[in-house]
Amino acid sequence: MNATSALRIAAISREERPLLRTLNKTIFGDAEVIRTFKRADLMMLVAWLRGTPVGFKVGYRLQPRVFYSAKGGVVPEARRQGIARALLHAMLERVQTSGYRRFVFDTFPNKHPGMTILALNEGFRVIQAGYNPEHSDYRLRFARSFPPGGK
Ligand SMILES: CC(C)(COP(=O)(O)OP(=O)(O)OC[C@H]1O[C@@H](n2cnc3c(N)ncnc32)[C@H](O)[C@@H]1OP(=O)(O)O)[C@@H](O)C(=O)NCCC(=O)NCCS
Repeated sequence: MNATSALRIAAISREERPLLRTLNKTIFGDAEVIRTFKRADLMMLVAWLRGTPVGFKVGYRLQPRVFYSAKGGVVPEARRQGIARALLHAMLERVQTSGYRRFVFDTFPNKHPGMTILALNEGFRVIQAGYNPEHSDYRLRFARSFPPGGK
């Protein structure tokens, strides 16, 4: 089933952050979404499926022309309906429109294989890899560049 027609993705404000905490707890079991929200160009996207919040994606400026997607996920009941892909597309579009040249994120391929598969399918390439003892997994950094002169 493709639920994208019933899907709404929008940016939320800093005041609406409790919604992210709830989604983050459901998806990752963590209390902390990201270490700090005091970031340049902080972008917090939420996906609603038929009015219910089902996923999120948070990112910020890493370097002047490089945007970093720090964390994201979709609740288990709403997976494999294209919601993570739609969140990624929504963030990519906003980031590119804001003038960024590169979009990067880190993921742990053994812990969360879906994101690695999605990244490769969406034209991302691995630019860095190393073992991360804290997560007992390799951390892959994926990147995708926007074409010069592109929208
Ligand atoms: C990874 C995650 C975000 C994917 O969310 P989703 O909404 O189910 O993903 P989508 O439906 O948009 O998947 C798009 C494509 O990604 C790939 N994919 C996604 N999840 C996958 C999985 N578990 N196994 C294999 N491929 C997967 C598939 O190619 C899929 O397309 P298809 O369903 O047509 O085969 C979700 O499973 C999740 O939140 N996992 C736990 C947290 C996490 O991994 N966060 C990312 C950390 S960087």
